[in-house]
Amino acid sequence: MTILVTGGAGFIGANFVLDWLATSDEPVVNLDKLTYAGNLQNLSSLEGDKRHIFVHGDIGDSQLVQRLLREHQPRAILNFAAESHVDRSIHGPEDFIETNIVGTFRLLEAVRGYWKGLDESARQAFRFLHVSTDEVYGSLVADEPAFAETHQYQPNSPYSATKAASDHLVRSYHHTYGLPVLTTNCSNNYGPYHFPEKLIPLMIVNALAGKPLPIYGDGQQIRDWLYVKDHCSAIRRVLEAGLVGEVYNVGGWNEKPNVEIVQRICALLDEMRPRADGKPYTDQITYVTDRPGHDRRYAIDARKLERELGWTPAETFESGIRKTVQWYLDNWQWVEGVQSGSYREWLDKNYSGRTA
Ligand code: NAD
Ligand code: DAU
Repeated sequence: MTILVTGGAGFIGANFVLDWLATSDEPVVNLDKLTYAGNLQNLSSLEGDKRHIFVHGDIGDSQLVQRLLREHQPRAILNFAAESHVDRSIHGPEDFIETNIVGTFRLLEAVRGYWKGLDESARQAFRFLHVSTDEVYGSLVADEPAFAETHQYQPNSPYSATKAASDHLVRSYHHTYGLPVLTTNCSNNYGPYHFPEKLIPLMIVNALAGKPLPIYGDGQQIRDWLYVKDHCSAIRRVLEAGLVGEVYNVGGWNEKPNVEIVQRICALLDEMRPRADGKPYTDQITYVTDRPGHDRRYAIDARKLERELGWTPAETFESGIRKTVQWYLDNWQWVEGVQSGSYREWLDKNYSGRTA
């Protein structure tokens, strides 16, 4: 038995592959294009491990995917591969259309052909699990109930629109062709190997480098945070016991305004790695021009997953954020490794035009 993971060199995909092989001997074929967000350093602990078969390639390369399916005969596909950063989708949506929509479509087509050719029992047991996001549901106002699986799709950014399109394609392949799909829609993740373009790792890395901590707008936007390993355990549980064709929302009931997140990171760094001048890291906070179309609030209602599949997160926000800050302090070499020229160009593109 084998599973095929796409995007397994990225933040969540790599955590998933590491956790999978820590608890199971079932091999993983890991197909990743190694965009700026994909990093084989995330998987360096698997070097020489025969259970991990890394393939450098694109989910939109139909011939490659067909060959991998033929050769490895996976019992399940877990689709993590995506362009995932909202700010990048605002600066340039095309890669998002290519991977999140066209890539997912081509992957589904290749998988449909493979699945049709399986014998009856393998066809029954097969699963295509699509990893998606709460952003497809749009934005909530204060006091509105959290997103349930039945919430209307109202994506607001090019990123979330392309993820919504991919969710619809996945749904249609079940409805029309009977492909046994599962979809998970998760809230904001944080934890080890998080690329420092996203809020939490950017704040840790900038704070330690003595740089400004750029908060968009008034910093009162709310996100619902989940430690990445809890997302991985939810995906494993849905793969194992989810009902075919169903959608499961994944979240940790941890709604917090951005400014509170940044203040918490600063307080942890004050404790764990105080500034040489004895001043608090909050002195580095800078309010900057807001993100266009910025969603005000996300919140996930995870009761279906808890009730039907018995999943609960292991970490609280407090325990998870402490582990995360510690991980960055302990893995500074990894941080230096991802700060390439193109990373610096991205920072310049996204932040230099923003006024404080
Ligand atoms: P990421 O940007 O860190 O990693 C994406 C990975 O996909 C990278 O390794 C990249 O090289 C690979 N990739 C991109 N295009 C590809 C292609 N065409 N073919 C093959 N590989 C390709 O993203 P992430 O944060 O790890 O997110 C993983 C998935 O989870 C995404 O689908 C995202 O929408 C979803 N998600 C993310 C979050 C979050 O908070 N990060 C929350 C909910 C859902
Ligand atoms: O909700 C799930 C989504 O969470 C995933 O689908 C996306 O892939 C993932 O990137 C994340 O999207 P967000 O846009 O919520 O994450 P980001 O870390 O970019 O921003 C979190 C919040 O922090 C958001 O309100 C914008 C704000 N922010 C972000 C950055 C990078 C700032 O205030 N300053 C910043 O420099």
